[in-house]
Amino acid sequence: MNLILMGLPGAGKGTQAERIVDAYQIAHISTGDMFRAAMAAGTDLGLEAKRYIDQGQLVPDSVTDGIVKDRLGEPDTDSGYMLDGFPRTIQQAEALEQITADLNKPLDAVINIDVDPQILVDRLSGRFICKTCGATYHKLYNPPKVAGTCDRCGGHEFFQREDDKPETVKNRLKVNIEMNTPLLDFYKERNVLYTVDGDQAIDKVFAEIQKILTTVAK
Ligand code: AP5
Repeated sequence: MNLILMGLPGAGKGTQAERIVDAYQIAHISTGDMFRAAMAAGTDLGLEAKRYIDQGQLVPDSVTDGIVKDRLGEPDTDSGYMLDGFPRTIQQAEALEQITADLNKPLDAVINIDVDPQILVDRLSGRFICKTCGATYHKLYNPPKVAGTCDRCGGHEFFQREDDKPETVKNRLKVNIEMNTPLLDFYKERNVLYTVDGDQAIDKVFAEIQKILTTVAK
């Protein structure tokens, strides 16, 4: 299965991606995670991405398209992939069409996690992440089962993302809201768009996604 997971910042893409990847064993390609890894490693890509991410702006299409093209060319995507956070612009969506056609890895479905933008600031400001495995938590809505211990890997160290600071969050939401409707229209026209209600509990959102994926896999 070849998928895109769409949604505004904080909609729950990363949270659902962890569950989808565990259940369906497909490659998880998060452009945000790739940029953060490059930033942590201090590579040229990381230094360039940081200039935009710290301002809540999108990294330029030319940079982002290139890393996705390279990543989709890797063999672990042959048996399925899930893009998380890409595409975010019409230009990226068009570039992706070309990339998937060239690699003969066509898209099966786009899952849009729809959430009222009003609650997103709250979700992002309460988010924390396991330093060891990257599992995502929320201090109120999704805490680890045992406080201070990651459910997934047993790690004890957590961090908050730099771009979850209130000023940056506002900008991220503004930029992404502007891009969202044209992108949804793009995939609606191609009859691959499925929307789930992301305002419900995490397990319920996942159950809706599983229902859709059962249909897509037939
Ligand atoms: P990226 O890392 O992709 O961030 P984002 O899109 O802003 O999305 P988030 O990771 O913040 O949110 P999410 O939807 O994954 O939510 P999560 O599951 O964590 O991108 C970061 C930056 O990189 C961008 O701003 C941009 O600069 C750059 N970039 C990345 N891709 C790019 C591209 N294609 N082009 C250009 N630039 C790009 O959930 C959030 C919180 O809510 C968590 O605490 C979670 O526990 C909680 N939660 C989740 N679901 C629920 C629920 N149902 N109920 C209650 N709480 C919930």
